[in-house]
Amino acid sequence: MKKYFITGGCGFIGSNFIRYIFNHDDSAVIINLDKLTYAGNLKNLAEFNNSERYFFYQGDICDSKIVKEIFKKHKPDYLINFAAETHVDRSLGEPDDFIQTDIFGAFNLLETAREFGLERFIQISTDEVYGSIEKGSFSETDALMPRNPYSASKAGADRLAYSYFATYDLPVIITRASNNYGPYQFPEKLIPLFVTNAIEDKKLPVYGDGKNVRDWLYVDDHCEAIQYIIDSGKVGEIYNIGGGNELTNIQITDLILKETNKPESLKQFIRDRLGHDRRYSLNCEKLTNIGWRPKHDFHKAMKFTIDWYKQNGDWWKPLKSGEYLKYYKKHYKEL
Ligand code: NAD
Ligand code: DAU
Repeated sequence: MKKYFITGGCGFIGSNFIRYIFNHDDSAVIINLDKLTYAGNLKNLAEFNNSERYFFYQGDICDSKIVKEIFKKHKPDYLINFAAETHVDRSLGEPDDFIQTDIFGAFNLLETAREFGLERFIQISTDEVYGSIEKGSFSETDALMPRNPYSASKAGADRLAYSYFATYDLPVIITRASNNYGPYQFPEKLIPLFVTNAIEDKKLPVYGDGKNVRDWLYVDDHCEAIQYIIDSGKVGEIYNIGGGNELTNIQITDLILKETNKPESLKQFIRDRLGHDRRYSLNCEKLTNIGWRPKHDFHKAMKFTIDWYKQNGDWWKPLKSGEYLKYYKKHYKEL
């Protein structure tokens, strides 16, 4: 029986990872610590509420008391740190929570893991820590050059996690994944924002010239890669995880308009994001060399994702109101 301590499990990737584990391991125990920020949603995991193998704690990864209590009570084998402030645009205006959660929170988890011990500490980092690349792809040994407060805070946590391996032999592994897409992604990120706007006949606000490139990874492929790395990865190592689907934002926008049968006129170019990274690209040979490959075809998984948002208005409509609507109106004031 494996015990997984998941932080940020009520967010997009964390909730998909918990579902992935329960679907693949009949005896796994999951302990989920989540602060329930605007991005955390209990509905994402409602189906597990009555499971005897699922424990949910509402709390902050920066709070050493609750983290220690969880270690004492559950003695987890693995800690997978998904908890973070994750939206680049928010980090440009209000970076404070990014520094606190993404760096100090990771530090608190590392310190507690060091005190209690565990089998693996997986720090979920991001491809954004490398910064932007015009040509070619980043390998794990390349220098880090984060260019916005979000990616800089993630780079801080990434290197701090490594330091706990190098200094204290804590069994840390770091993953750096590319842009994820799939069900349960908060509708502030490109794909769910544009899909839900298209469904509602609202404008799709493309930043700058729309030629920025991201490498799209289906969330289930990411979850499988993390499980693979827990089982077969080497401690002290970093693993890039990419989808192998590099597209410009215009290509993504056009695909969404086509799949939702909406007119080209919904596409609107607006002022660029500050410090907008032009292109992300990963060399994933290190991971493919130990046997992992993304299984999902991009076009099929995008169609599935778009259909999921079409069918789950009850999930995303409430998220596009209230506080979020205030943020959205302020942020997209040109529309
Ligand atoms: P998300 O914003 O959807 O979810 C983040 C979760 O963390 C939420 O449930 C939130 O309530 C929780 N949280 C935030 N602050 C917390 C705190 N102080 N204590 C406890 N919980 C807290 O994020 P996501 O897109 O699922 O990303 C998960 C992780 O994966 C992040 O570390 C992110 O940097 C990384 N990542 C994301 C992507 C992507 O494309 N989404 C790609 C690569 C890496
Ligand atoms: O690369 C991994 C990263 O991907 C993760 O670490 C981050 O947590 C995640 O938010 C994501 O960051 P991006 O900035 O790449 O994702 P976002 O969905 O915000 O934007 C994707 C691209 O789309 C980017 O070039 C900006 C552009 N964009 C985004 C929004 C929200 C637009 O043109 N218009 C928009 O309204």
